[in-house]
Formats: sequence, C-alpha cells, structure tokens
Amino acid sequence: MSCILRKFPRFLPLFLLLLALMAASVQAAERKAPKEGVLLVAFGTSVPEALPSFKAVDASFKAAFPDSPVVWAYTSQIIRRKLAKQDRPVGGISDGLAELARDGVKLVRVQSLHVMPGEEFTELERAVLLDLQKHPGRFEAVYLGRPLLESHKDALRVSKAVLADMGDKRQKGEAVVLMGHGQAHGRADLVFEGTRASFKESDPLVFMATVEGARGFDDLLAELKAHKVKKVWLQPLMVVAGDHARNDLAGDEEDSWASRLKAAGFQVETNLKGLGQVPGVRDVFVAHAKENVDDLTKEPKKQ
Ligand code: CO
Repeated sequence: MSCILRKFPRFLPLFLLLLALMAASVQAAERKAPKEGVLLVAFGTSVPEALPSFKAVDASFKAAFPDSPVVWAYTSQIIRRKLAKQDRPVGGISDGLAELARDGVKLVRVQSLHVMPGEEFTELERAVLLDLQKHPGRFEAVYLGRPLLESHKDALRVSKAVLADMGDKRQKGEAVVLMGHGQAHGRADLVFEGTRASFKESDPLVFMATVEGARGFDDLLAELKAHKVKKVWLQPLMVVAGDHARNDLAGDEEDSWASRLKAAGFQVETNLKGLGQVPGVRDVFVAHAKENVDDLTKEPKKQ
C-alpha cells in the first residue's frame, strides 16, 4: 500500500477518506450489534479424566467467539450436586442464561454438546423455552445450536475427523469399535444408524453399537465375527470419555465390552478419547453454534 502511495501521492486524500469511512462503519457496527454470549450445555461429568475434552471444547469456542462470554451449563442435577460438594460448581441452564443476562448479553447462542438429538437435547430445548417464558424480553435473540450429529454432512465430517485422529496407531485390517450412548425408548436410533452408514462408507472396518439403544453389544459381536476381525480398537462415540467409556467400554469388570471381546478371542486396544478431544469434531459444534436458524424468542415465519 505505502509504495502505491509513494508513486501516486494524489491518491493520499482518497486513501485517508477511505480509512475514515472504514473506521466510522466499524464504530457504527459496534454500536448497533447486540452483545453476544455462548451457553454450552452438556449432560456433565464428574470424572476428572473426562475434563480435557470439555477444556478443549471451551478453548475452541473462546477462539471462535473471541468477544463473547462462554458459559457452561450441566443438565445433570446429580453431577451438579457432586461438583458443588467438591467446590467446583457448574450451574444449570437457567443459571447460565442468568449469568449471560447479568453480563449484558442480548444475543445468546445456546449450543448443545449432545452427540445426537435424543432425549437430553429435547429436555434442553424445553428448559431454555421455559426460562424464556419466565423472563420475557430479556434477550433479543436466543439461537439454539443443534447437536453434533443430525445431517448426512455432519456424519461425514465426524467420521472423517475421528478416523483421521486415530492416525497410524491402527494397522491395516484392524477394526475400530465405537460405543454410542443410545436410549432405551429409541430416540436418535435412526440418527445412529445413519451415522453408522457414513462411517462404513469412509471405512468398512468401523463398527458401532450403543449402551442403551437398539443396536447393542450382541449385534456388534456378530458383525465382528462375520468380518473375521482379529484386533479391535475401542473408542467412545461420546463427547467425554467418562463413566461409560471407562467402565462399560474399557473396564476390567467381566461385563465390559473390552472383557467380553477378549473372552470371545479378539485382541483389544483402547483409545479412551472423548469426541471433544478431536479437533474436527469441535469444528462441527462451532459451525452449528454459528448457524442463526432457530431463534427461540421468535415465532416461526408464516409459510
Ligand atoms: Co448414560
């Protein structure tokens, strides 16, 4: 720029005018834009080993929304009580919204840290809506960010990110087994099946089952046997490698997946990393938080 100005000094006034206009428009934008804030909502965890995952998610959101406060809410009362007793309290959804309001936030981005739109996501939506009813006019907009996996695009992005993150640890012919949560009454079962298909598309040796959903351990075992797999890598398909990952998946008890697979003759390795520790997965959450689609303070547009 400076060399252009040296060559053409007559452009200097124009250049200065342009700078002044830019500065004025930035100021105007700052005046007009409502203060934004982010509320990250997770079930919660009290397992210290699971915290690196949440810390990484927190850092990604702070980097993506540098001017916004980023507040956390845990929906599990049991976990909140446990943490309060240990002197490291985390609030619930209403606490988080109140904190953002106190901070002068007018535009809230509530981001679900759930893996799929199941029961807990529905409860999150209900809790936010009820809180908005109790405090009408507190915010100008409250956008609800969708969970990690909803669209085909999400599933492809997540499967690519998870497989890339495994890197060279896994050798050719070795299988990956992902443990999803799932729910007994079936919410998100089909999202799980869609995700499973996307993983299979990326890599036929990725197998998935759930703790509580329709596809369980017995289906997994039959599938692994049919593929004549010898060695498997176990990894949770959950944001944190918490209690399910450490006990139900990789625990020493004889009913853990690791123990049952070993008993069935498989070689077993574990990769106890929460999805929040996978950078490409965090990117999907951040992308969902940036979508200004579902503003819970406004009526849907009439069609
Ligand atoms: Co559970």
